[in-house]
Amino acid sequence: MRTYVITGGTDGMGRGLGLHLLGRGDRVVAVASGEEKGRAFLREAEQRGAADRAVFLRSDLSTVAGMHAVLREVAATTEAVDAVVFGAQRFRPRREETEDGLEFTFALAYLSRHVLGHGLLPLLERAESPVIMNLAGPGGLPGTVHWHDLQLCDGYTGTRAAMQSSRCNDLLGVHFPARHPTARTRYVLYNPGFVRTAMADPLPAPLRVLTKTLALLFAQPADKAVVPIARLLDHPPAEPVSAFKRRARLPLEGEDFDPVRAERLDRITAELLAPLP
Ligand SMILES: NC(=O)c1ccc[n+]([C@@H]2O[C@H](COP(=O)([O-])OP(=O)(O)OC[C@H]3O[C@@H](n4cnc5c(N)ncnc54)[C@H](OP(=O)(O)O)[C@@H]3O)[C@@H](O)[C@H]2O)c1
Repeated sequence: MRTYVITGGTDGMGRGLGLHLLGRGDRVVAVASGEEKGRAFLREAEQRGAADRAVFLRSDLSTVAGMHAVLREVAATTEAVDAVVFGAQRFRPRREETEDGLEFTFALAYLSRHVLGHGLLPLLERAESPVIMNLAGPGGLPGTVHWHDLQLCDGYTGTRAAMQSSRCNDLLGVHFPARHPTARTRYVLYNPGFVRTAMADPLPAPLRVLTKTLALLFAQPADKAVVPIARLLDHPPAEPVSAFKRRARLPLEGEDFDPVRAERLDRITAELLAPLP
């Protein structure tokens, strides 16, 4: 039985993927911050006869304490992790700071993936064919890393923060093999395209209605979008890092995947984390 850790595993694609994997006999640890959706996930697992293979791990992944709690809990309950899938996100129309003094989107959508990816590597390396899959936006909407204002103190918009975290995740994936040159774990950056999920829920009312309407017309349902994701988890490319926009493989070229920028972000991230508990 394979074990999958899925952040954001109680809604959208994370939930869809978790139920898909439970349905085929795997064990799933779904990490999210809300109790209600967590319970609903466990109820669905029970209805599918998978109660003994489904775990809900409640943790606020926008905080460094929450990230470390997940590392501790997974290590205490799991021998080996076959794959980690990063899908936790929450759009913030206005700038907010976490208890660590970090901008919320940076902390949740990028930093938690940095901490959990590196931190879970020892458990991943015990698996037969381990994979980290980072669900973000490689090759998608343009965005940039604001090197001199990573916490977006000036000129914050929710979209700017979301796009920055996506670019940071591209660089996180590119740098992963440099940090772990002998690791067998393969890193897959994956852009699922437009998928009908809870993504629009935190948007201001007019934009929420518009996005949900567009999603009804043009987006894929989550249970369909997770099929190629599961396939990639089963058959990741042989290279240590790869990127996809839906089924299309992306060349790791240009500034989004620049190893020098990736090393720079890794160094800055280590400096940011060093004084935190
Ligand atoms: N949907 C799309 O069209 C689309 C397109 C491109 C890329 N993506 C990427 O795909 C991934 C999944 O997106 P989605 O649309 O499926 O997400 P979603 O439906 O919005 O679900 C987000 C998940 O994250 C959890 N979460 C939110 N805040 C959290 C916190 N502080 N700590 C821990 N968990 C938290 C949520 O549960 P709680 O709120 O209970 O914590 C929920 O389980 C994201 O990385 C997104 O950027 C999505």
